[in-house]
Amino acid sequence: MTAPVPYMPEIGKAVVRKIAVAGKQPILDLSLNESSHGASPLATAAATLRCQRLMRYPDPASAALRQAIGRRYGLSPDDLVCGNGSEELLDIIGRLYARPGDEILFTDYGFLQFPIVALRVGATAVRVPERALTADVDALLAGVTARTRILFLANPNNPTGTYVDAAALRRLRDGLPGHVVLVIDSAYAEYVDAPGYSAGHELVAGTENVIVTRTFSKAFGLAALRVGWAHCPPAMTAVLNRMRGIGNVNAIAQEAAVAALDDMDFVARVRDETARERARVTRALDGLGLAVVPGVTNFVIARFPAGSNRGAAAAIAHLAARDIVVRGIEDYGLADHLRITIGRPAENDRLIAGLASLLP
Ligand SMILES: Cc1ncc(COP(=O)(O)O)c(C=O)c1O
Repeated sequence: MTAPVPYMPEIGKAVVRKIAVAGKQPILDLSLNESSHGASPLATAAATLRCQRLMRYPDPASAALRQAIGRRYGLSPDDLVCGNGSEELLDIIGRLYARPGDEILFTDYGFLQFPIVALRVGATAVRVPERALTADVDALLAGVTARTRILFLANPNNPTGTYVDAAALRRLRDGLPGHVVLVIDSAYAEYVDAPGYSAGHELVAGTENVIVTRTFSKAFGLAALRVGWAHCPPAMTAVLNRMRGIGNVNAIAQEAAVAALDDMDFVARVRDETARERARVTRALDGLGLAVVPGVTNFVIARFPAGSNRGAAAAIAHLAARDIVVRGIEDYGLADHLRITIGRPAENDRLIAGLASLLP
């Protein structure tokens, strides 16, 4: 078995460290799809307050957090499992449902953690083709075999930023045999205001094999605290709870996430500005001759001219020299593309100016 590929934050951080030495101006890190808006002041205040009781263990059941999530999203807290980031939950799902010889299915440009989970458990990672850098439900269904145990779909997907609509998602669920666990990773759901989109919670009820995962790392701006959650059928909730660490979500994270759910106006502002800025960055990059993939998240990918001194690799170096970090995605098989997080307006101005000085 080959060693797991390094998880992607390492890649951005390595570049940051390298250019930080230059230290000319504040580094603009647009490489990790983090929120450029920070967190709600309510969340920060709750985290700070909890720091006064650091000697107390966290609630191992994350009960208040599950109740707050349940209230906010109209779900039963009993059907929710919280994790140390949704990353932990994806990992647990892999360890629970797949073993060597089994197949884990996802799309060609599916989120990098999916093959990492497959490698960790010794299962075979099976990729199916996408259509126009978008998941193709028919290809996914055609890719299912007697050995498939898990189908991971990030919707919208990282790094492509594209999504399939609720009808396609339902068709996928309905077409899957009972031996396959469908995991809908809706990490970017809060950003999406697109026709027909659904995070997929309506598909969990009445099934035994559908899980939706969500995170506080993106639009809520709590990536440092590591809080994610899974919405599962009751039988799966029970096994996920047995598999996770007892104090897997730390107390500061639990308190901050509960408070963040009381400030959905903040999330709405993040979503609206991100959508406006995504449209503006897209227009600007299109104007520079780059092909931007229409996405619905807090990042975009753009194709650079292949094999030229204005290609993706040249653009990374050119931007790094200006203390701007973006994410090359050759490890996803998209060597001509860069993934760029949408920043605040002034940050996006800086990115656009940086690229304009490279491209004619
Ligand atoms: C599609 C997708 N799912 C899950 C995650 C992991 O999020 P978390 O911070 O909750 O572990 C990410 C992080 O970038 C992501 O892009």
